[in-house]
Amino acid sequence: MTLKTIEKHAHIIEYKEYGKNAERVRNIGDGIIDNVSYLALELALNKTILDYLLSKQGYIGEKWTRYWFRQILTGLIHMKNKGFSHLDIKCENILLNHNLTAKLGDFGFAQPNSDGINMVTGSEFHKGPEICYKRFPYDGEKADVFSLAVVLFAMQMKAFPFERVQDVIYSRKYKLYIDGDYDAFWPSNPPVSAEFKDLFMRMIIKDPSQRLSLTEVFNHPWTQIKELPTDQEILDEATRVSTIR
Ligand SMILES: Nc1ncnc2c1ncn2[C@@H]1O[C@H](COP(=O)(O)OP(=O)(O)O)[C@@H](O)[C@H]1O
Ligand SMILES: [Mg+2]
Repeated sequence: MTLKTIEKHAHIIEYKEYGKNAERVRNIGDGIIDNVSYLALELALNKTILDYLLSKQGYIGEKWTRYWFRQILTGLIHMKNKGFSHLDIKCENILLNHNLTAKLGDFGFAQPNSDGINMVTGSEFHKGPEICYKRFPYDGEKADVFSLAVVLFAMQMKAFPFERVQDVIYSRKYKLYIDGDYDAFWPSNPPVSAEFKDLFMRMIIKDPSQRLSLTEVFNHPWTQIKELPTDQEILDEATRVSTIR
């Protein structure tokens, strides 16, 4: 169990307990009791980034995108330092606690990355080309960087970057990108900075060996821009969402 093995971290959901043969009442009143295994985790009161994006009108902007992106990135770098890759990065698997702090969740695909990964992992629209085309073994870290680029795009644009990531190499939009037709690739709304586009492009490079590493993503000029939500803005937003929860 990867989550149990990885040391506690501010941006990884905390493992509490795992148990077998616990009793669970199937339906209140019918008296049938099932034997179940369970996993107890720290509660993320604000559910996931996907829930947040869907409930929010309009776009969240680069400031908030950067705030959560940096948090997810530090969680992934911590995992990497412990020898693991997550391999299912997507907005549904990034949890938000009561303070709107992002935490990596769902370690169902996570595994050691020392000798590369030899199985298909990840979710539709988020898998890198090396996974779609089964170029085994592949580097788990670079696969995480590709999926993280999809999350980066999704947080900012409220859309997926490619229509079908299974066919990523032939996807019309991916091809526009590879051909350098950036104007056709990027919708005019919401506007995105040149640094954002540069970072995204370097994270989706087809050849994993050319793609940025997690540390390079962290050191990229866009990630390092100091514009972040203030403590007061975070508190105000956490209060706002608590009233509609
Ligand atoms: N610790 C948690 N706190 C709050 N909600 C959670 C938590 N863990 C999971 N969830 C919710 O349950 C959903 C499914 O959990 P997940 O661990 O991603 O399992 P899977 O995707 O394999 O079914 C998440 O997308 C999220 O909405
Ligand atoms: Mg999940």
